[in-house]
Amino acid sequence: MHSAYMEIVKGLADEAALSILRKEMSMGEIIIKQGRLVNPADGTDRVCDIRISGGRIAEIAEAIPDNIEDGKTVIDASGKVVMPGLIDLHVHLREPGFEYKETIETGTSAAAHGGVTTICPMPNTNPVIDSPERVRDLLERAENTPVHVLPVGAVTLGQEGKEIADIRGMKEAGAAALSEDGKSVMDTLVYCKGLREAAECGIPVFAHCEDKVLAADGVMNAGKRAEELGLPGITNAVEDVIVARDIFLSKEAGNRLHLCHCSTRDSAALVDFAKKQGLPVTGEVCPHHFTMSDDEITEDHGRFKMNPPLRGREDVQALKEALRDGVMDVISTDHAPHAAEEKDQSMLKAPFGIVGIENSFAISYTELVRGGYLTLSQLIEKMSVNPARVLGIDKGNIAVGKAADVVIADLSAEYEIDPDEFFSKGKNTPFAGKKVYGRIEATIVDGRVVYSAAGGLGK
Ligand code: DOR
Ligand code: ZN
Ligand code: ZN
Repeated sequence: MHSAYMEIVKGLADEAALSILRKEMSMGEIIIKQGRLVNPADGTDRVCDIRISGGRIAEIAEAIPDNIEDGKTVIDASGKVVMPGLIDLHVHLREPGFEYKETIETGTSAAAHGGVTTICPMPNTNPVIDSPERVRDLLERAENTPVHVLPVGAVTLGQEGKEIADIRGMKEAGAAALSEDGKSVMDTLVYCKGLREAAECGIPVFAHCEDKVLAADGVMNAGKRAEELGLPGITNAVEDVIVARDIFLSKEAGNRLHLCHCSTRDSAALVDFAKKQGLPVTGEVCPHHFTMSDDEITEDHGRFKMNPPLRGREDVQALKEALRDGVMDVISTDHAPHAAEEKDQSMLKAPFGIVGIENSFAISYTELVRGGYLTLSQLIEKMSVNPARVLGIDKGNIAVGKAADVVIADLSAEYEIDPDEFFSKGKNTPFAGKKVYGRIEATIVDGRVVYSAAGGLGK
């Protein structure tokens, strides 16, 4: 029954065989046998077969005949979970301009490895993605990548915070959202113009909330640990004042507001407040912020440096509760690759950012589902269904007729996070050596197997 799947394994031995298999995988039908389909969009949680044909879900049934014809791939998913492809709203691909950190090819391969079938790359490249031309250029560069790439355009030209970009033009060119990620637009008047334009165009704003002046030269969370290490701190208010500002400005402008990488308990309280007012505000949390606190920073090293920083224990607990209570809607990674030399130094010198897209599912599953905060279905909502809603796209749903973006995971497989196994150029993570559950077994995008644990990356 599983011979086609076994072929993938054998094909690994020989690159020519692998490329033939890739062609077959991209053209033929796929039958996923006897997996536990967890599809929060319609409440499904049952063992069944799924047939994929022409890039779409063709059939979901108790048992689908699996007599293997030419070009048909059968995947034995018994004992595994089958779920909608993950959607990561917050990724840094670094191309153009910083290809030594990551390229579109390595970043999208890393996504496929992590079970992520759609990504939104942030615009802080060089040049900045701040015009329709740049959006089109990025889409062209990403044409043959294993996963869907939905670009985010900058709010202001060059992310300089002075003049708003051609927001309508970027939206028409294919930008899925707007963001000044890496910083906030500090000039409130300029920002208001951008928010109003975003509201008129119906494009969501992804807000990185950081008061640049108040952050000063801080490199980690302000508190006892920063004092012990003798490092300048970043207080919670650096984030909280801008979260509050952005909620009130968006309330007046009428735009949809998605708050990136919320890291403090008061950010969560403010998102709750906004929702209670009925505002179209959503909140995002990154795995590192609900998994690690600043007292776990063992030394002054760049791998612990990201923006916003790892916070205190009470914040970490509040974020988990906010995810549990439905205040926080989305888990995305802020996958921020940097070169080893850049990160292998004191936090005073290293750039902000850690990678995360290859282990986001396993870390989140381990911390939140095994930790008792979310059901598996709720986790998939936060990593697929809700991100699709934020973008207003028809994804995050395994149903007949829908595009076949599907992920298979083995929840019982425990593994140790090993940066040497990353497809990303960035190895900068504080999670190296951490034991997690929930290995991604296969990633399918538009009906093509783009990654399988047995056969590596397919193209
Ligand atoms: O840690 C971060 N890294 N936070 C950001 O806001 C930007 C990102 C980057 O581009 O490296
Ligand atoms: Zn950011
Ligand atoms: Zn970011």
